Amino acid sequence: MKQYVRLWLLLLGVQLVAIYLLYRALGSSWGQTLRSSAFNWLSEQNMYPCSFRKLPAIFEHGDGHYYIVWETTCPSGAPLLKWWTSNSFGSSVSAQNTVEPWYRRIDRDHHRYTAIFGPVAGNTPVVHYKISNYKFSTRQFTIKRPGPTELHRLLVIADNQNNPGNFRKVLSSIQKYYGKDKKPDSILHVGDSVQNVYKLSDWQNQFFSPMEDGGGYHHSSPLIFVPGNHDHEKSRKRDNKNMYMDMYHGILDTDGLSKKAVDDGTYHQFHHSVSIGSARIIVLDAECPSKEQSEFLQRELESAAFQSARFRIVTVHIPPYIEFWDPYTWNQKGEKHWGEHIRVEYDPLFRKHGVDLVISGHQHNYQRSTVQRNLENATLADSITYAIVGGAGGTLDLQRVEDWNMYNVTYLKHHYVSLDIEERRLQWSARNVDGTVFDHFVIER
Ligand SMILES: [Fe+2]
Repeated sequence: MKQYVRLWLLLLGVQLVAIYLLYRALGSSWGQTLRSSAFNWLSEQNMYPCSFRKLPAIFEHGDGHYYIVWETTCPSGAPLLKWWTSNSFGSSVSAQNTVEPWYRRIDRDHHRYTAIFGPVAGNTPVVHYKISNYKFSTRQFTIKRPGPTELHRLLVIADNQNNPGNFRKVLSSIQKYYGKDKKPDSILHVGDSVQNVYKLSDWQNQFFSPMEDGGGYHHSSPLIFVPGNHDHEKSRKRDNKNMYMDMYHGILDTDGLSKKAVDDGTYHQFHHSVSIGSARIIVLDAECPSKEQSEFLQRELESAAFQSARFRIVTVHIPPYIEFWDPYTWNQKGEKHWGEHIRVEYDPLFRKHGVDLVISGHQHNYQRSTVQRNLENATLADSITYAIVGGAGGTLDLQRVEDWNMYNVTYLKHHYVSLDIEERRLQWSARNVDGTVFDHFVIER
């Protein structure tokens, strides 16, 4: 009898260890990838109940507006987005506003919904929203909106595409950095979120699922998205096959989408600008060196909003000064010419109009240079910093193809950046996946 008890205890112990190991494995980056892939496969085989495939992602949309996109695995009836505001203590709550989303059937298993809400008054500290539906609803998501004199924590990432395992490791490090129940106030994604913009599986496995498993920050830390060369359809046609990356461009102009601002493209274009705390950020589309964008850049650089901002930031996917790339594609395939207009046309304007910081991705590693503007009457504070942060997961660029003799820091591993924006101080910390700070600088004024 004792033998049976011993055997039974042994089997129980083995089972507990196996459950524990499975639990640990599912929490690891490869376990998360496996779990997401299993969910996607089961959904596509109609073996998984109808549910959210992508919980809402929120994007800054300028002038106190937010753009929300979510997706279900079947048509979900008549969903509504409800939003309301409160003070930071939650004791004073506004009435609920309701927005009917636009619906877009991508295919049998991908049903996309989009809503824009706002305007939210500039001094509103907290915004809440949720998706309600007769079939299924989301929980409530809360966006914190620090005022212009308060600390605003911006997470900066780029080039996670094509290697979700690495991206998950970076996200895991980011979670440890912010800590439990905390999050960045906004996310600046400097482009190349997926490898192939036409592949639904790339969108799910390379961007949305890792973001979901890596803290789900994209539900309530609004994204400022800078399109990369992998992110959008190059023909720029409105009715193209781009499934998700249309938050700033006119391609939402499909059946049933009749909002005027969407129709005329004034809302949905990639180049735009936004105020984050004491900083003004101009977003450019490196793939679109158009007359329209040049005129926008000139206008924005000269604008009162940009010139009166304490800190002036420009972000564009392709850096003006690249040093690392695949030598063959750089020289033989002409890829060295991709960003020439940024260096030749835009960079002199950045210097002329007092840009403090230019943030880019594209090159899959980290470089940072702080150089004097070299203008007449330049002072010690009169400098411009160029940062390349293309290390959120994509295969690293390790081969040098140019030497601009300007970078102070070069770091050839995966990383992310926390940019703390205070009233009179920008604090930049670049961290690797172990959480170690390998570059840090402060701009004060
Ligand atoms: Fe790129």
